[in-house]
Amino acid sequence: NTTRYYTLVLDKTLLAPDGYNRTVLTINGQYPGPIIFANIGDKLVITVVNRLEVPSSVHWHGIDQVGTNWYDGVPGVTQCLIQPGVSFTYTFTLFQSGTYWYHSHYRGQLLDGLRGPLVIFDPADPNKSLYDQEYAMTLGDWYHFATDTPQFSNASDPFPDSAEISGVGQLNCSIPSCDSSQKYATYKVTKDKKYRFRIINVSAMSHFRVTIDNHPLTIIAIDGMSVKPYAVEILSINIGQRYSVVVTANQAAGNYWIRASISPCSGEPPKLVGGILSYDNVSVSNPTSTGYSSQTDDCRDPDDSVLQPYPLSPSVPQDKNITQLKLEINVTFFNDPIHPNGTINNISFIPNYSSPSIKRVIDNVSFVPNDNAYFYYKLNEPVEILLINAENRSHPFHLHGHTFWIVARGSKDNINSINYNFNNPPFRDTATIDPLSYLAIRYYANNPGVWLIHCHIQWHFEMGMVAQLVEVPDVFKTYTIPQNVLGLCNQNSSSW
Ligand code: C2O
Ligand code: CU
Repeated sequence: NTTRYYTLVLDKTLLAPDGYNRTVLTINGQYPGPIIFANIGDKLVITVVNRLEVPSSVHWHGIDQVGTNWYDGVPGVTQCLIQPGVSFTYTFTLFQSGTYWYHSHYRGQLLDGLRGPLVIFDPADPNKSLYDQEYAMTLGDWYHFATDTPQFSNASDPFPDSAEISGVGQLNCSIPSCDSSQKYATYKVTKDKKYRFRIINVSAMSHFRVTIDNHPLTIIAIDGMSVKPYAVEILSINIGQRYSVVVTANQAAGNYWIRASISPCSGEPPKLVGGILSYDNVSVSNPTSTGYSSQTDDCRDPDDSVLQPYPLSPSVPQDKNITQLKLEINVTFFNDPIHPNGTINNISFIPNYSSPSIKRVIDNVSFVPNDNAYFYYKLNEPVEILLINAENRSHPFHLHGHTFWIVARGSKDNINSINYNFNNPPFRDTATIDPLSYLAIRYYANNPGVWLIHCHIQWHFEMGMVAQLVEVPDVFKTYTIPQNVLGLCNQNSSSW
């Protein structure tokens, strides 16, 4: 196993990802950020250099951070902020393989540009023989104004201005009738070869659907988990989720549209973005191919029974009297009539930037109501979280520190008669909770620390639709927090 070193320099510059110039936050001068590659078992040593005028922090979405809670990158929870001019090194070992991503976990920096792919190879992946080469493809919504500008302060859930594939979008365009000056993300393929596309939805608020004209997509992995191959025409992917699909270049050599569309499931107007699948020996030009209109307001995850972990995933806890935590999700107007609060069990989370949660666990400082904290005490005990969506819209929920099994879904009216699926259920870290529905997830409390569970719609995160899970604090207290984590807080003139 190897130790791999990366440096991510956070900065900003003027860019026009969709043809419209704005200040974009960049990583090593790029938007989206560079791909971080590693193998399972490697150790990643990633130094984040903050050249912005504002603080930041970077989260490694989907990485369980086993035994390294303090490198999870959540300011106010697992670390203090990385102040302007400061560098901070994250060090963690990869016990997982698959497709992940990284992003700032501070304010709106994710949608201002601080996001990029993280790919971990597994030489023993049984699906490896299904493709010859691979690409990473990000799908993102895009705003024309930075999130710290006044355009945002009067809005709640502001709609994006455009959509993009791997950082390239088109202004005022409806595919296939864009004017020829538009730029498209382009992927070259060789006839009769098979390609793995690692598709990552890095959006602020948008569910996406994606198709490639004349080329069906065979799903071979969801989040970090390989699954039994399953072919679809349209891939439906929510915020924070990843799907690997295999595309076979078996059509007449030419150019084919990749069509991605923002689904109108959050009340957003649908938006289309194009990319080009272009065969070798053919010059890149606007395709004339026709395909599916991929618009629909159905934002559900694919049926749980069709995405079966392969090989079989480790055994899901089936305990009858499992420790269950109920979390009811809602949006409430507390006192501000324009800006609602996102709530979990009626509480809006407020991060404590000067004294992160892990510090308070170590120092035996009790939590306050706005921490919205829930405790698990027994190491390795199986737990269930029952997420109940009181709202008539869907929310993509993400858990830090664990990959979980999706053991049940249903209408929230049937919450007292849950039908569990223990038959090799999907194993992932981000799942959609349907409108007025519940979602039951299970995992083992085997990773002491403080982990977030939250809606990955950036606006809902900001509104406080977040809870903290304090996992086995007695064991966590025996861990030694690395010096650089403690030092980051001193920088903020805290006592830690
Ligand atoms: Cu992708 Cu808590 O985040
Ligand atoms: Cu939400």
